[in-house]
Amino acid sequence: MAQGAIENRISEVLYSEEVIQARVRELGEKIASDYSTGGSACDAEGRPPMLICILQGALVFLADLVRQIPTEVEFDFICVASYGNGTSPGAVRFIKDLERPIEGRDALLVEDIIDTGHTIRYLMRSFAARKPASLRVCTLLDKVARRETSVGIDYTGFVLKQDRFIVGYGMDYAELYRNLPYIAVLKPEYIR
Ligand code: PRP
Repeated sequence: MAQGAIENRISEVLYSEEVIQARVRELGEKIASDYSTGGSACDAEGRPPMLICILQGALVFLADLVRQIPTEVEFDFICVASYGNGTSPGAVRFIKDLERPIEGRDALLVEDIIDTGHTIRYLMRSFAARKPASLRVCTLLDKVARRETSVGIDYTGFVLKQDRFIVGYGMDYAELYRNLPYIAVLKPEYIR
């Protein structure tokens, strides 16, 4: 792999930093508004919504999103991995689970991208069993062309109609490029 500035490996920027930040601001305001009553997003017991970041990809999105929510929020992290071949599609194992329970809480799963839909569908079922007061999904990107199972998405940043391999803003190729501030397509010579 060549060294140097990673932006030289980009063939096309699909969503610029400015476009992403503007959309994240809108999502933050919408989430704050939806969860708020009487100027507070806390429930009757004084607990704010719990945003659940699905590592690694959603890290960058979560970090920007929470700073655009002008009301109380908490956040926590999970990390999952797929079981691979021979198991039911989307079945995942938890590498890292939440630090705190979500029973009775307003929980919002935060994804960078929903592709086939299997991961988020599995996680919705898994977290619903923990009996949160509400359970919603927010994704920066909805790659509808790849959907294999129906999922309800409450907040979507952008709908990606084409099936293109993208990197940046949390998304990787071989664990690289997550730190690009925009979402882009790699030049073919940098995809092995
Ligand atoms: C990506 C993304 C979602 C999942 C979506 O994670 O962050 O969690 O794939 O795919 P699906 O809709 O087909 O199930 P990935 O497995 O690439 O891990 P990462 O977040 O660590 O990059």
